[in-house]
Amino acid sequence: MKFALPIVSLLVLPFAAAAPTCSLRSVSSGVVTTPTSTGSAPGSTSTPANPGNTTSGSISMAWFANWHTDYTVANISWKGYNRVAYFGAITSASGAAVITVGDNEPSGPATFVAAAKQNNVLPVVTVGGWDGSVYFSSSFATSGNRTTFINSIVSMVNTYGFQGVEFDWEYPGSTNGLSCNTESPQDTANFLSMLQDLKQQLPNVSLSAAVPVKPWNDATGNPSTDLTSFAQVLDYVVTVGGWDGSVQLLVFFWPPHFRQPYNFRQFHQGVEFDREHPGSTNGLSCNTELPQDTANFPSMLQELKQQLPNVSLSAAIPVKPWNDATGNPSTDLTSFAQVLDYLDGWNAAGPDACGISQPPSGDFNLWGLISAGSLNEDGTVASGMTGSYDECSQTPYVSNPNIQVMVAYDNVQSFTAKGSFISQQALAGFALWEMGGDYSNILFNAITSAVARSS
Ligand SMILES: *[C@@H]1O[C@H](CO)[C@@H](O)[C@H](O)[C@H]1NC(C)=O
Ligand SMILES: *[C@@H]1O[C@H](CO)[C@@H](O)[C@H](O)[C@H]1NC(C)=O
Ligand SMILES: *[C@@H]1O[C@H](CO)[C@@H](O)[C@H](O)[C@H]1NC(C)=O
Ligand SMILES: *[C@@H]1O[C@H](CO)[C@@H](O)[C@H](O)[C@H]1NC(C)=O
Ligand SMILES: *[C@@H]1O[C@H](CO)[C@@H](O)[C@H](O)[C@H]1NC(C)=O
Repeated sequence: MKFALPIVSLLVLPFAAAAPTCSLRSVSSGVVTTPTSTGSAPGSTSTPANPGNTTSGSISMAWFANWHTDYTVANISWKGYNRVAYFGAITSASGAAVITVGDNEPSGPATFVAAAKQNNVLPVVTVGGWDGSVYFSSSFATSGNRTTFINSIVSMVNTYGFQGVEFDWEYPGSTNGLSCNTESPQDTANFLSMLQDLKQQLPNVSLSAAVPVKPWNDATGNPSTDLTSFAQVLDYVVTVGGWDGSVQLLVFFWPPHFRQPYNFRQFHQGVEFDREHPGSTNGLSCNTELPQDTANFPSMLQELKQQLPNVSLSAAIPVKPWNDATGNPSTDLTSFAQVLDYLDGWNAAGPDACGISQPPSGDFNLWGLISAGSLNEDGTVASGMTGSYDECSQTPYVSNPNIQVMVAYDNVQSFTAKGSFISQQALAGFALWEMGGDYSNILFNAITSAVARSS
């Protein structure tokens, strides 16, 4: 199942506050650049957090994705977590939330909850996600439909013993989700009604939500200005928006026209184009725009390259390929084909929940980067790769010069920065997407050490 919830920690705010300088510096391969050891787990307790107890730094959570055949409940390293979210349940055309993996399968819900309880970790079920939000709107649209949905959640909680329910609706009252999502201007209001009713049915179960950076849209299609009613029914929210600096990673593809060796030390001698977005109406309303935008773009770049042969040219690109002249994502961007072999094994192309084929989204996790040989097993930059760290966003990058791919990822240093930020801002804690993306708890240990040290 393809999935695109980025992840996240409970933080998306700029790290500029924690970063005195904003500059790129290169990182030699094999050199440990991190301020903290990747060794033993911190002094975190494995006592489950009480539902509702969100003291600063108290939540230590990760999501467990239930669809990997090579990463099942048996692979989970529970130590140090006080919550793990089972990902998860999805909405369905019938209006009920459903879990599609059999109860006692290696990644089944019964298997998961039993193991969580054995390890003294609070088991949460996540409902929704990128592919699982299709029927939220219709399921919440009427009082009768909300009852059907709530009954399915109560049944899920009672059947398996989940002690928390998290809603990951991508996104209420918005067209930014999957193309076939049901949707209504009343989504956010209906969502609140459902939560209020659910809380009455499950007063002792922790309710939470994964939320985008901007508040959910109100009935006018604009970000809501007052969501305080949600605070009465939700114990906490997890801000999910760290595409560029979290366990789940953003890959920068280098199109063929940019194929000269890239040198981070010459970063100031480059020109980056951030066109949002060629051949698309998703940009500003007054953008000029043509079906030929994507075709015209390389022509311009080639001419520019002739004038500035020694200047690095690059482009910021969205997750989906730029549109072709028909207005659909281009299928012939050879840059994609070049990096397919290099993509994370958990990030294959395939149809989305609407049945529409999608290319690999370009996400890499730490585990994938180590498997691909870009990083060593201790998370340091592998020999032959070029590493860099952006102090401004607190983001490491690794570049494979052979295939001209640069990946922004997370390492001990960036997770330490996040952990310190969580403490400094008195945030409730962190949540990692996704558990199996870490490698030997490198990232987990970094963030928990930093949270413990700073609090
Ligand atoms: C909440 O959690 C913190 C940290 O885990 C703990 O110290 C505190 O006693 C808890 N508070 C309550 C009311 O359970
Ligand atoms: C999960 O555990 C199995 C069995 O020990 C192992 O073969 C597999 O490599 C593990 N998966 C990951 C991603 O670590
Ligand atoms: C209520 O739920 C049913 C079954 O899922 C669905 O067919 C119907 O469209 C929903 N009502 C609304 C107003 O969305
Ligand atoms: C919730 O917890 C309280 C206190 O432990 C208990 O009295 C009550 O019966 C519980 N309610 C439900 C619905 O489980
Ligand atoms: C580009 O760099 C090469 C090698 O350093 C140099 O010979 C050439 O003059 C430079 N060209 C321009 C236009 O700066």
